[in-house]
Amino acid sequence: MNGRPQYRKQSAALLRGQTEREHVVFTGRGATAIWLALKAFGLVDQPVLIPANTCYIVLWAVLLSGNRPVLVDVDPVTGMITPDTLTACGVERPGAVIPCHLYGLPAPMAAITAWARENGARVIEDAALAYGNTIEGQPAGSWGDAAIFSFGTGKLLYLHGGGAFLTNDSALAAEAKLLIGTLPRWTDQLAALERQWLDIYWATHQHEDANPRIAELYPKLFELYNDITLHQPDQFLYKALVHSRIHMESNRKHRRDYSTRYDRLIGGSLHTIPRSDDAVLWRYPLLCPPELRDDLFERLLSWHVDATRWYPTLRPMVNALAPQITQPPTPNADRFCARIINLPLPIYDDPPDKTIKWIQEKVQHWERYE
Ligand SMILES: Cc1ncc(COP(=O)(O)O)c(C=O)c1O
Repeated sequence: MNGRPQYRKQSAALLRGQTEREHVVFTGRGATAIWLALKAFGLVDQPVLIPANTCYIVLWAVLLSGNRPVLVDVDPVTGMITPDTLTACGVERPGAVIPCHLYGLPAPMAAITAWARENGARVIEDAALAYGNTIEGQPAGSWGDAAIFSFGTGKLLYLHGGGAFLTNDSALAAEAKLLIGTLPRWTDQLAALERQWLDIYWATHQHEDANPRIAELYPKLFELYNDITLHQPDQFLYKALVHSRIHMESNRKHRRDYSTRYDRLIGGSLHTIPRSDDAVLWRYPLLCPPELRDDLFERLLSWHVDATRWYPTLRPMVNALAPQITQPPTPNADRFCARIINLPLPIYDDPPDKTIKWIQEKVQHWERYE
């Protein structure tokens, strides 16, 4: 017998149980779930507030929904958007706000949802980086009018792709179910297109500053590659999600242990974002002096450490793709973008002690000759 309907039911029940949500709609990826939410809300040509340093695919989902992305600054200490930074962005009646638990750390959801209520905005909780985490005493995925998960590359739960849309609103869920049926299925051709785009993306997005004419490139790239944003889930998602339960606890324990070991780095010129003892990180956010960051990052790559600099500011991309929208200043997010290195929390890798030693040596050398 084909076990797929059974796995589908079980995986939906798993997410409902974990998030205490009433409805789950599976999607091809997290970005599709964001698009579903915006479409199901019925928003058209409305300002949608997103963190200035979230993933570019969130921006693509907003653009494809026919709405207007506006970048929001983050708090200088927590790295999250807050009611203050939302107010500071100066949009009077936003259609929606998409707070994100960047690095797996909690965005202040109670305060953000209260702000959104006062300002007439819908909330989409972007829990792409926080699957299984607790956010202000509630499960990630349980906040806002709708929430989304991603099961794509490098996420806390990596299932080779896939996403989910969650809500308690039956009418919204019914609309989302209709909408997902209108999207293309995941094909080998789309997979090949995505591989090609990711190669181009790594090369451009990370080094945007180096190319003053990047604004000429992004509209063409968006036109050529945006088909990868919206699609139905792959049939293998359900079974993978059901089986993921087996590894989830050890995965989370491992991430906590490794994060504690990375904490040994902290001191002198290095910092991390404050977190509670039970926090489970997506990747470890190491904040370095901006003058040292890129050199240290290149060194880490040359030592085969899977370090990244997520996320760079979306400003060059949004200015290129939506030049008609005036973007507010986002100095704190820009500062995070200039300082961050995300260190890996790999489950099958060596302990991070070697990486820690390398970083300490490099930083001590830099501090001595600075
Ligand atoms: C913060 C954030 N939100 C949303 C997404 C969208 O997830 P997906 O890649 O599954 O579309 C990502 C993906 O990298 C992300 O990092």
